[in-house]
Amino acid sequence: MPQNFSALDRVHLVYLVDRSLPSEDELHPGSDVIRGLSQAPKTLPPRYFYDDRGSQLFEQITELPEYYLTRTETEILKACAPEIVQITGACELIELGSGNSTKTRILLDAYRSADHPLVYCPIDISAGILESSAQSLLSDYPTLEVYGLVGTYEQALEKLPQTHLQSRMIGFIGSTLGNLNPQECDIFLDQIASALKPKEYFLLGIDLHKSTARLEAAYNDRQGVTAEFNLNMLRHLNQRFQGDFDLTQFQHVAIYNEAERQIEMHLRSLRSQTVRLNTLDLTVEFSAGETILSEISRKFDLDEMKQLLSAKKLDWVRVWTDSEQAFAVLLCQRILG
Ligand code: AVJ
Repeated sequence: MPQNFSALDRVHLVYLVDRSLPSEDELHPGSDVIRGLSQAPKTLPPRYFYDDRGSQLFEQITELPEYYLTRTETEILKACAPEIVQITGACELIELGSGNSTKTRILLDAYRSADHPLVYCPIDISAGILESSAQSLLSDYPTLEVYGLVGTYEQALEKLPQTHLQSRMIGFIGSTLGNLNPQECDIFLDQIASALKPKEYFLLGIDLHKSTARLEAAYNDRQGVTAEFNLNMLRHLNQRFQGDFDLTQFQHVAIYNEAERQIEMHLRSLRSQTVRLNTLDLTVEFSAGETILSEISRKFDLDEMKQLLSAKKLDWVRVWTDSEQAFAVLLCQRILG
């Protein structure tokens, strides 16, 4: 039995942000809200979904009968984790967007069963979130070392700390890649490729394109949780920026754009109305039926994704899907050069 270090010794936070410099967000809070609501068509950044209530609602979404994504990815990971461990050997796991660690635990369990040392590097902009997610893992993994990287994905990918294990793997699961438009996706994959040394790994989970009916059902659940999640963004903005969005005068809309292969979530104004966000000194006019785009969720073609990854010097090593080919997990390796 390896030595059981005390929990405190096993969490290390590495600050990639210069804490003496306020971030853009602290200097101009809500500048992204002003930008999005001043555009035509109007948009809002998906990051405003996730206040405490929003995170709770998202957890509920993952358990909805119609929302197959989380369930399917979990099932795939359970089946493929031993193989991932066999391919990578002892490996430091860097995770982008750790959130609730249920899926991460599947991987940690597999490395532990193979008796590999466990080093886990979650990346988050919030030190508090890193601290609390680390604490919940430490008691269940007595030899786990956590190096939390405090910063944006970009900052973290630019300066990943030296690994002391044989290899490393960047994990980006949960189909979060789908929230990036094609151009952002391109930039992101370039950043992944340059963060990795040759032969290091990238583990990617993506939702695959499928029938419009099934996709639209997943984002228009019968219990209305997704609608509540979408509308919660307005409630969050009200609270954060002293706003007066009337939640009864906006409606959740989610449609699949087949040509672009993406779910588009909107908040539709039910009448012409004026909304004020006091602390941003912003007044916004809505016409009846006007929409705010709050999220895109792209649905990928597996062969196209393999090609895109290869073009980014990330060759796929193994691909796993479920029996219905609803979702895919790809293990890629950074090629030489
Ligand atoms: C967390 C980004 C994967 O796109 O399906 C769920 C977010 N939005 N229901 C997704 C979401 C509405 C989700 N991701």
